[in-house]
Amino acid sequence: MSTEKLVVIGQGYVGLPLAMRAVEAGMEVTGLDTDSYRIKRLTTGDSFVEDVPADRLGRALASGRYHPTTEYADAEGFDVCAITVPTPLHDGTPDLSFVEQAGAGIGPYLRPGCLVVLESTTYPGTTEELLRPLLESASGLRSPDDFHLGYSPERIDPGNPSWQLENTPKVISGIGPAALARTDQFYRRIVARTVPVGSTRVAELTKLIENTFRQVNIALINELAVLSHDLDIDVWQAIEAAGTKPFGFMPFQPGPGVGGHCLPIDPCYLSWQVKRRLGRQFRFIELANDINHEMPEHVTRRIMAGLNRTGHAVNGARLLLLGLAYKKNTGDLRDSPAVDVAQRLCDLGADVRAVEPYAEPHHLPAGVLIVPLTEQEVRAADAVVVVTDHDVFDYDLVVRHARYVFDARNRCSGPVVERL
Ligand SMILES: NC(=O)c1ccc[n+]([C@@H]2O[C@H](COP(=O)([O-])OP(=O)(O)OC[C@H]3O[C@@H](n4cnc5c(N)ncnc54)[C@H](O)[C@@H]3O)[C@@H](O)[C@H]2O)c1
Repeated sequence: MSTEKLVVIGQGYVGLPLAMRAVEAGMEVTGLDTDSYRIKRLTTGDSFVEDVPADRLGRALASGRYHPTTEYADAEGFDVCAITVPTPLHDGTPDLSFVEQAGAGIGPYLRPGCLVVLESTTYPGTTEELLRPLLESASGLRSPDDFHLGYSPERIDPGNPSWQLENTPKVISGIGPAALARTDQFYRRIVARTVPVGSTRVAELTKLIENTFRQVNIALINELAVLSHDLDIDVWQAIEAAGTKPFGFMPFQPGPGVGGHCLPIDPCYLSWQVKRRLGRQFRFIELANDINHEMPEHVTRRIMAGLNRTGHAVNGARLLLLGLAYKKNTGDLRDSPAVDVAQRLCDLGADVRAVEPYAEPHHLPAGVLIVPLTEQEVRAADAVVVVTDHDVFDYDLVVRHARYVFDARNRCSGPVVERL
């Protein structure tokens, strides 16, 4: 059997790990991305995705079976195509333009018997209603008769050392039994366990259930944190204690809000579809979005109150923020609540400095000076704010030398520390 030829459209947080894994599984992989800056970096072995260290990328390039490119023509002759392009919101509405462009771009290269799988997170119905007709009209082929079409949501958790693509069960689906079988055959080479479901809509909804569940539970615990502070009760202790219940409870942690490409966005894909198809509101989602959205404002108010207690106005105060990424141990700044907090503090006239070891320099917010975490910086700050609790930070150093710490992540303790 000849080497299976895979093209992965989109070489970002989802597409690059998939491409690497496929190379390691022996496939010939074209990593296609319209961002020429990213492709240039990949070609020279420079990875921007934390879960793909440079040596792993280097091995893939050295194998001669990984080909980063900006050209759709390089997809010619592919057996399997995985689409991992962004699915953002535009004014609160799903923006499927990247999926449309990817479908139109790859369509002319479809051959009878090939497999196309959408991995981007999206509302139930996208694969059948949007991608299928696009591919059919661009190729002149029909699904399921001439080519296979499937949907398989990505569950990647950037920065998680235990759960990677290969050991996380992968939900798979296809339009028709042959497409499902072909999708299963492909992913069995990539992951340890596949979870076949009955339709692409079920697979699309599965992903949205997972992220909506997290969004709602984080909102619940965030609201609880705000109320517990006003009630003068230590919410962190209560959550830890509740977490000892061996059944029926799953601990979620409060924080400065939610960010990244998933939680602030994916549930809106579901509520948008519910509104569009049923004319009804998905009330849990609306409420959770509101609560999580208000958290950066709440954190800012708490910092102002804390500064006030130590005799400082926020205007003119020197603040040191730890972490700007939306989650720890990653450099992803998309929709980061930490950036929101930083911008609010800048707008209030504070001198905002931040320690952010992971983010790409050109993505960092304007007006915020990036500094290393040193004793001098900590001592000079009127307040140190733990916004994103990267594991590399020396929290002992912070607590030893800071005058006042506002900790939105429960990483510090001591007399100068106030927690969310
Ligand atoms: N990042 C995560 O943790 C995560 C987890 C699960 C699911 N997802 C979903 O996976 C999808 C991709 O997310 P991501 O984080 O990898 O995004 P990303 O922005 O890191 O990567 C997407 C890449 O696609 C490229 N691209 C856009 N349009 C293109 C086109 N027409 N042709 C070729 N390349 C194109 C972009 O240049 C970019 O490099 C989204 O739907 C997201 O919701 C993301």
